[in-house]
Amino acid sequence: AVVAGFQELVYQFYCEQGRQLPWREGTAPDPYRVLVSEVMLQQTQVDRVIPRFTAFVQQFPDPQSLAGASTPQVLAAWQGLGYNRRALNLQRAARMIVDLWGGRVPEDPVLLQQLPGIGPYTAGAVAAFAFNRPQVFLETNIRAVLLHFFFADQEGITDKQLLPVVEAVLDRAEPRTWYNALMDYGSDLKRRFPNPSRRSCHHTVQSRFEGSDRQIRGAVLRL
Ligand code: ADE
Repeated sequence: AVVAGFQELVYQFYCEQGRQLPWREGTAPDPYRVLVSEVMLQQTQVDRVIPRFTAFVQQFPDPQSLAGASTPQVLAAWQGLGYNRRALNLQRAARMIVDLWGGRVPEDPVLLQQLPGIGPYTAGAVAAFAFNRPQVFLETNIRAVLLHFFFADQEGITDKQLLPVVEAVLDRAEPRTWYNALMDYGSDLKRRFPNPSRRSCHHTVQSRFEGSDRQIRGAVLRL
């Protein structure tokens, strides 16, 4: 009931205020587009990524076209995103996808992590968003939400402590939608509380959720 209440809150927000983002288009987004977007989003804000993403996938619509491009072409398309090493890694990844897997982005996070520039969290995000797999991973918005609800007034919480909570609250029936909703909730949370130390302020938590906060935290941590 505790997890269901949390999921309901997050989904309610998503229904009302979820974002439409170009890499989310369609009921089953193209895994290559998901991969490109997740690499761009590793170190760059959503607003900054959107126009660059659209132009990038227009110029390089599939792993083959990215694999076959010249390095200067790829770097030019990466302009404005920064951390150019990511662009070079992404092209190397595209070449591996073409050479090893016939141009298809692998579904298995273990294989995804063999790609340069793809760590466990990006691999998890791609598996969830592209293939709807119930993968457990963290990202900055997800972190913000879980710290807010389950670790209010605590400091120095590590990913190791957060990951079991990610697993406990994950909607296994619909991982793609769940993570979209969780990230949108987190993005809004960060907008509402620019100062992270104020994010756990209980008075601002939706009234329906208030009071059950402590109970939820205890319940989740016992799992
Ligand atoms: N940050 C990282 N991945 C994201 C995604 N798929 N949507 C929004 N923000 C993100």
